[in-house]
Amino acid sequence: EKGGFEHFMLKEIYEQPRSIRDTLRGRLLPEQGLINMRGIDEYKEKFLNANRIIIVGCGTSWHAGLVGEYMIEDLVRIPVEVEYASEFRYRNPLINEKDVVIAISQSGETADTLAAVKLAKSMGATIFGICNVVGSSIARETHAGAYTHAGPEIGVASTKAFTAQITVLALMALKLGYMKGTLSESRYMRLLIELNSIPEKVEETLKCDPITRYLAEIYKDSNNALYLGRGYNFPVALEGALKLKEISYIHAEGYPAAEMKHGPIALIDENMPVIVIAPKSDQYDKIFSNVQEVKARKGKILAIVNHDDEDIASIADHIIEVPETENIFSPIINTIPLQLLSYHIALLRGCNVDQPRNLAKSVTVE
Ligand code: F6R
Repeated sequence: EKGGFEHFMLKEIYEQPRSIRDTLRGRLLPEQGLINMRGIDEYKEKFLNANRIIIVGCGTSWHAGLVGEYMIEDLVRIPVEVEYASEFRYRNPLINEKDVVIAISQSGETADTLAAVKLAKSMGATIFGICNVVGSSIARETHAGAYTHAGPEIGVASTKAFTAQITVLALMALKLGYMKGTLSESRYMRLLIELNSIPEKVEETLKCDPITRYLAEIYKDSNNALYLGRGYNFPVALEGALKLKEISYIHAEGYPAAEMKHGPIALIDENMPVIVIAPKSDQYDKIFSNVQEVKARKGKILAIVNHDDEDIASIADHIIEVPETENIFSPIINTIPLQLLSYHIALLRGCNVDQPRNLAKSVTVE
């Protein structure tokens, strides 16, 4: 049942080229310049005339929501808010018929997300679901939706569901941006072609597995870790930190790289590993100076960079090289080495990778 893998988590990490391909199948038709999503077509007017889009979720699904916020604001130019479902539902939110709520949930059973959906629905919003489990409670409660076709996720730590959620959000942002006219035809076409190549690039990224295993030996005894990213890779930093803490029980925090100087930099010394997500982008120079700041304080730097990187690679203690892609799809690529790193560290620490202590696969208590 684990298909030759030692753990479900590793199997599911390795399934990602396929799960992303399955999520794109029948939807993304790059030669025809088309994205098929019936749920969006049915609610086209609601989406295009929305005053704002609110994304709700918990944990890893909330992280995917943050990536979605950046994508939708970038390509569709509609204001987006991302909320923890548990905060949204209890804070007497302002919602009306001009709002579209996107609920993200792998299981489709998370109690707080389900309650947030019911609340927003009762206040007149249009609810769109991004769920993995077909026929789940959240999927049934929404007006429309798009399933992530990731297949069953057994490992408690979410891996392939996360990259499938980002894939669906990318499809949505591209389709809506093109329909709205906020995304030019040429950029749209370029992005469709690039999105179509992501499963292949994920396949290539998985080749970093031996390096992450080697690095796990070096970092396994750390008590803390700091993950830094900017822009599209800020949510990846949060997700990387969550993966490490939940399966290896090492305290880890994710931060937008520029926020470091507003506090966390005080933590940096030679015992603090800093994992920096730094692919080529228009913020590369900024993150390079953040890395220099860490280096000046003797922090240990592990950088996720593109193959031809020179600047950050020259000052980092260790690097993991990943293929280059459009900035908006880079969270999918950059998440892979972080999943593998957490997996190997947890394994070396003797942790139960598939069933970490105190955690359940779906959180049906409030
Ligand atoms: C982390 C993890 C959790 C879930 C969260 C939401 O690896 O698995 O943080 O992401 O409990 O679950 P779903 O997506 O099922 O609503």
